[in-house]
Amino acid sequence: MDKVKVGVIGVGGMGSGHATTMKSVEEVELTAVCDIEKGVAEQVAAEHQVKCFVDSRALIDSGLADAVIVATPHYFHPPIGVYAMKKGLHVLSEKPVAVTVAAADQMNKTAQQTGVIYTVMYQNRSVPLYRAVKKLIDEGRLGELYRTSFIDPHYRSQAYYDSATWRATWRGEGGGVLLNQAPHGIDIFTWLAGLPVRVLAETRTRCHKIEVEDEASARLEYANGAIGYYHTSVNEHPGGSYMELCGEEGKIVIADGKPKFYTLETPIQQFTEENDQMWASPSVHEEEVAVEETESGHKMIIRNFARAIIYNEPLLAPGVEGLVSVEFMNALVLSGKKNKPVEIPVDREEYEEFIEEMRKSSKEKKLTGPTQRVTDPYHLT
Ligand SMILES: NC(=O)c1ccc[n+]([C@@H]2O[C@H](COP(=O)([O-])OP(=O)(O)OC[C@H]3O[C@@H](n4cnc5c(N)ncnc54)[C@H](O)[C@@H]3O)[C@@H](O)[C@H]2O)c1
Repeated sequence: MDKVKVGVIGVGGMGSGHATTMKSVEEVELTAVCDIEKGVAEQVAAEHQVKCFVDSRALIDSGLADAVIVATPHYFHPPIGVYAMKKGLHVLSEKPVAVTVAAADQMNKTAQQTGVIYTVMYQNRSVPLYRAVKKLIDEGRLGELYRTSFIDPHYRSQAYYDSATWRATWRGEGGGVLLNQAPHGIDIFTWLAGLPVRVLAETRTRCHKIEVEDEASARLEYANGAIGYYHTSVNEHPGGSYMELCGEEGKIVIADGKPKFYTLETPIQQFTEENDQMWASPSVHEEEVAVEETESGHKMIIRNFARAIIYNEPLLAPGVEGLVSVEFMNALVLSGKKNKPVEIPVDREEYEEFIEEMRKSSKEKKLTGPTQRVTDPYHLT
């Protein structure tokens, strides 16, 4: 096989974007699209001259595709992904892989049982800077982490939330900023720093008329006793993000995509115990982060997915690791709503009961204008 035949399921804003991106990825061929809205499926199918379906199972069973990209609203990622895997199709799931940890577990279990290639569209894993920082951390250049911070604000208008019935509802989306805008940052943050074991969060709805949170903050505790601080929202402009990872032997600061990497001549604990000068502190060196420019973004994740299928190339964003960010977001949502500390791994039963309650309390959303399927232009690369 030198080209993977791919069907895209859910061809709204993001899915139609992926269909277009695939034209510039030599290792894939778009062969079918599916959307529950017939008109949407037909329009995208006509644009790309491929077959269209309104039922994802029919596309999966059609024999037209070796693999699928699932770009529906989040709740549908696991049922469609699991069905495709069981039929032997490789799966690229949009983020988050699931709304709940139990559903993400199901995806992981099925991927392991079937042996298909399973990846998640966490395209920031392909960004050269984050790959370089990950390498430094894996090489132990920061030493043991003792503090993390991640401030990751975004902006969304009320018109954005009013553009589709599923958005920002418990029944259609299963959460707010934590489930939609924050996952990319959470993925990178937890990829670099690991998962905390306990969180105490505050979530609230501050600027928008929506059921779910548009802001979240949390204090994080890690297994080694390190602490962290996290904040996200869709209420700030300009956005920009700020991450600090402080270790025994060094510190990384990434402000708006620009890194600063400091290394200590003597590790903090050792210096604290050994030096006898009242106002001394360890010598610090600032080092360049060696960033190797490569292709990145959606295109790179799609290419990597196909190359994993054809050539067994290692995945940049393995689907099984999609569970990690779901642990983090579920823990914060639960902690914020229940006003209590929450342990990670999140209690599966408790979260299923909680989300069921929230879904029951969720009101049907009536739109005052037409549904819009337009993805953030920033994300169309
Ligand atoms: N990776 C990224 O950069 C990125 C960016 C935007 C959105 N996303 C993700 O993509 C997904 C879709 O978001 P969007 O903004 O494109 O939403 P959208 O509303 O524009 O599109 C979703 C489409 O899925 C269709 N659909 C709904 N249920 C379906 C089903 N069961 N089977 C087939 N089609 C179905 C809808 O009719 C719609 O056309 C979300 O999970 C979101 O988090 C990822």
